[in-house]
Amino acid sequence: MQKIIIAIDGHSACGKSTLAKALAKELKYVYIDSGAMYRAVTLYAIENDWILDEGKEVDREPLIENLDNINISFNYNSTSGKSDTYLNGINIETEIREMPVARAVSAVSKIKEVREKLVEFQQKLGKNKGIVMDGRDIGTVVFPDAELKLWITANMEVRTARRYKELIEMGSHISVDEVKQNIEARDYEDSHRAESPLKRADDAIDIDNSYLSKEETLHEAVRLVNEKLLSIS
Ligand code: CDP
Ligand code: CDP
Repeated sequence: MQKIIIAIDGHSACGKSTLAKALAKELKYVYIDSGAMYRAVTLYAIENDWILDEGKEVDREPLIENLDNINISFNYNSTSGKSDTYLNGINIETEIREMPVARAVSAVSKIKEVREKLVEFQQKLGKNKGIVMDGRDIGTVVFPDAELKLWITANMEVRTARRYKELIEMGSHISVDEVKQNIEARDYEDSHRAESPLKRADDAIDIDNSYLSKEETLHEAVRLVNEKLLSIS
């Protein structure tokens, strides 16, 4: 069976990675979480004290000078059954999901040099196809020729409630309002930056999963994949 590239984009906490992971498992494709890469670079900047003004600003020069010292990799975790993110050989899967990283990641991800490095890495990972990648610019910049592009949406209340539940389960002490503010701030920053802003690719197919379960969303995506595979075979 022919292998394709599936690009999944959308705003924060709309269900992209949940769908991308399930779809990759179903198709026996590789799943790549591009957001985890921006989060890893952000953690590196936090560890080096290059994040200023509570996450709004970045001390760009030292970060850009040290980009070659940032090595990101993914390894399968047999306990969780998921792939964990590593920064220079250290498992950072938990830290990158926490609020300090969430607060600063949009400021880091608007830096052109950071994007260039990560996009090159992402394109390398997709060169043999058979990949599902989620993020903000996958269908527009990373894989503009992806055979299937999905644009995932869900309403703000649903997104906030889902992300809040996730953070509380991780042991985070956070309010619903803080979660909502972070989602709104990142949506704004990610959509208004100069470099590869978040936007729907013209040829993307929309899936609104506000009222769909994870299984229903996966079912719809599999249907779209099969339709695509039939049309190009
Ligand atoms: O999980 P959530 O949707 O909240 O975020 P994420 O996918 O982990 O991405 C974290 C941040 O990384 C986003 O808010 C963007 O600032 C940045 N990002 C990006 O700029 N381009 C991508 N392809 C993926 C993420
Ligand atoms: O990757 P993105 O930030 O777009 O969202 P996600 O991490 O896939 O989903 C955010 C949260 O919503 C996760 O805790 C998912 O388990 C949950 N979710 C859900 O409850 N129902 C769905 N249909 C999709 C996601």
